[in-house]
Amino acid sequence: MGKKGYVGFIFFMIYGFFILKFGSSEAKMVPALYVFGDSLVDVGNNNYLTLSIAKANHRHYGIDFPTHKPTGRFSNGKNAADFLAEKLGLATSPPYLSLTSTANKNNASFMDGVSFASAGAGIFDGSDLRYRQSIPLTKQVDYYSIVREEMTREIGAAAIQKHLSKSIFVVVIGSNDMFGYFESSDLRKKSTPHQYVDFMLLSLKLQLQRLYDDGARKFEIAGVGTLGCCPEFRLKNKTECVVEVNYWSVKYNEGLQSMLMEWQSENRGIIYSYFDTYAAINDLIQTPASYGFSEVKGACCGLGELNARAPCLPLSNLCPNRQDHIFFDQFHPTEAASRIFVNRLFDGPSGYASPINMRQLVAA
Ligand SMILES: *[C@@H]1O[C@H](CO)[C@@H](O)[C@H](O)[C@H]1NC(C)=O
Ligand SMILES: *[C@@H]1O[C@H](CO)[C@@H](O)[C@H](O)[C@H]1NC(C)=O
Repeated sequence: MGKKGYVGFIFFMIYGFFILKFGSSEAKMVPALYVFGDSLVDVGNNNYLTLSIAKANHRHYGIDFPTHKPTGRFSNGKNAADFLAEKLGLATSPPYLSLTSTANKNNASFMDGVSFASAGAGIFDGSDLRYRQSIPLTKQVDYYSIVREEMTREIGAAAIQKHLSKSIFVVVIGSNDMFGYFESSDLRKKSTPHQYVDFMLLSLKLQLQRLYDDGARKFEIAGVGTLGCCPEFRLKNKTECVVEVNYWSVKYNEGLQSMLMEWQSENRGIIYSYFDTYAAINDLIQTPASYGFSEVKGACCGLGELNARAPCLPLSNLCPNRQDHIFFDQFHPTEAASRIFVNRLFDGPSGYASPINMRQLVAA
C-alpha cells in the first residue's frame, strides 16, 4: 500500500467507524416501529409457524436480499417493512416469534421495535384458513398487549407511555380478507361485497382502538392495492385486471379513510397517516417505463401463464431481471416496487399519503 493509499485507508476506517457508531443512532427519527399486518410486511414470523403453508423460507425468495438467502419475506429481497425502518434510521423490527423463541440469542429488546406481521393474516380470524396457520390481526394485537406489559415491568408505566406515544404503529392488512371473499362462493352467498367491506372496517376499528388503549398514538395505516391486477386475478380475465375486485378495493379504501377520520375524532391524541397503496401500484401499472419497469402483468417467479399458475417454489421459473417486474410472485411486489411504495408513503403528496405523510407523522 502506498502512502496515499494508506492515508485513504485510515480515513476510510475512521469514517466507517463513525458511520457504524453514530450514523444509525443519530439518524433514528423515532424510538421504535411496531408492525402489524400480512405478508406485505412479514419479516419472518411465519417461519416459526410449523403448520403454516404461507412460507417464504425457500428459493427463490431472498435471492436479492443482502445475504442472498430466503428469510421469510415474500420478496426477491427486502420488503416494505425493511424500507420503512431504513427511512426512520432503525433496524428492521424483528419478528415477535423470533424474540420469544428459545433461539433468541441476541437478546433483542421489545423497546427497539417488534413485528407482529404474519403472511396470510387478515382482519378477520379465519381469513387465513387456506394457509392453515397464520397470526390474524386480533392475535397480533394480543401479542402486542403482552409486549406492552413486559416493557412496562421493565421501565415503568410513565416511561413506557412516553416511548409508545412517540413510536410508529404500522398496520398493513385487508388484502387477505378481500381475496378470501372473492375466492369463496360461500362468503359471497352470506353477504354482499358492501356488507363485507363494512364489516372489515368495523372489525379493523376495534383492533385499532385496542392499540390506542394500549398506548399507541402515531399510526401509519395502509389501504389495499389494485388487488384485481395481481397476477393471480389476471389469470381470471385473459391477463386483464378483474374489475369487480378493483372496484371493491377502492370502496374499502374510501371507507377506511372515513373510518379513520371518525376514529380520530372519537379519541384524544391520535395522529395518523393513511397510505393509498392502490394509487401507488396503479401508477406503476399505468406508466411502468417512467419507473424502470417493463413487466406489469406477470410474476417474476412462478409457473405457467403469467408465471401465476403456481407459487414461487424452488422449481419455479425465475426472471433474470427482477428490477423490471412489479410482481415477484402471484400476489407480492418485487423489492423494486416496494422501495417506490415506501418513498411515496414517506414523502408523498396527498394523492398517496393523507391527511399527512409519514415524515410529517414522525415530526408531529
Ligand atoms: C438480556 O437482557 C436482560 C434484560 O435487559 C439482561 O438482564 C440479561 O443479562 C441479558 N442477557 C444477555 C445474555 O445479554
Ligand atoms: C376484463 O378486462 C376488461 C378490460 O379491462 C374489462 O373491460 C372487463 O370488465 C374485465 N372483466 C372482468 C370480469 O373483470
